[in-house]
Amino acid sequence: MAIESDPIYIQGRSESETQRLILQALIYDANTRRFLQDAGLTTGMKVLDVGSGARDVAFLAARLVGPTGSVVGVDQNSEVLETARERARAARLAHVTFVEGDIRAADLPNDFDAAIGRLVLMYTTDPAQALKAAVNHVQPGGIVAFQEVEVPLLLQYAESVQMPVFREIVRCLVELFRHGGVPLSTGFGLHQVFLAAGLPAPTMSTYSPMGGPPEWPGYRGMVETMRSVLPLLEHFEITTAEKLDLDTLADGLLAEVESAGTPMAGATHVGAWARGRVSRCRERRQRQGPVAITPTIGTNGPTPCVIIRALCRADGHTGHPHGSGAESDSAARL
Ligand SMILES: C[S@@+](CC[C@H](N)C(=O)[O-])C[C@H]1O[C@@H](n2cnc3c(N)ncnc32)[C@H](O)[C@@H]1O
Repeated sequence: MAIESDPIYIQGRSESETQRLILQALIYDANTRRFLQDAGLTTGMKVLDVGSGARDVAFLAARLVGPTGSVVGVDQNSEVLETARERARAARLAHVTFVEGDIRAADLPNDFDAAIGRLVLMYTTDPAQALKAAVNHVQPGGIVAFQEVEVPLLLQYAESVQMPVFREIVRCLVELFRHGGVPLSTGFGLHQVFLAAGLPAPTMSTYSPMGGPPEWPGYRGMVETMRSVLPLLEHFEITTAEKLDLDTLADGLLAEVESAGTPMAGATHVGAWARGRVSRCRERRQRQGPVAITPTIGTNGPTPCVIIRALCRADGHTGHPHGSGAESDSAARL
């Protein structure tokens, strides 16, 4: 159920896009793994991977949580989920499952220890709303960790080096982002997105892969990216297949690196993580254990619930202390 105003998924839905995602994982997975560890993912946790694609982030999480934990990947693209399921079967990872759906509407449990995602919020019209929807499936105090792209840094680098082929490719991608309504700066924007979703200010870091040696997967990664987006590049008349010449592009980029004496760069990923808020009322209940309440039958005084609500309000918390009802439940989760 993609929303009509969502940015275009510029890479399209094809087998070559699935292969592109797998190649992208080769370049970014080591960093994503460290990022998830820093965020606190560990043995035994139950993790929700939002926009799980071909499964790569879900698998990283699965290794961190081990067989005593579990990972559920959710993605709105049924084709890519088929690949993800096949790869999970082949890897005999029984504790990873995949659910088809839009994170803003998916029917998922509410007891995850963490919600994670890579390059997914950028494809939603309101990233804070999508993040909030994900957080609603996480237990109070759980981990929320997302990585998104920051294109202007790549553009700045491409414009500063003597590498015309590389610069032209980055120009095409930037143009395509603009035509597709995909924000260029979701990465740095994560700070604001977390706050707008009701989370604390996140801990953030950046990662930019840089290549040099011929075996660096970034050259082929760039070719596959351009292959995935080619139909739209031509549709928006940004460039043509002839001009890009995908068959020679990887060699062309490498030759340029060697002649310019500078490395090629991949897109910068910005990671942001925080722990969901535990309401002070809930904290106090957790510290003190169950509250004994003796209803005063036969008087016109306030009900026990009203008394507890008043206590919670005095404590700066306005949600229902029992956490029942959709509104109060989501307030307590955040
Ligand atoms: C760029 S891919 C990233 C896949 C994976 N996270 C990775 O890093 O390899 C983004 C994925 O998010 C999915 N997606 C986009 N918007 C979504 C939404 N609102 N709910 C669920 N999945 C979504 C897309 O179908 C796509 O598979």
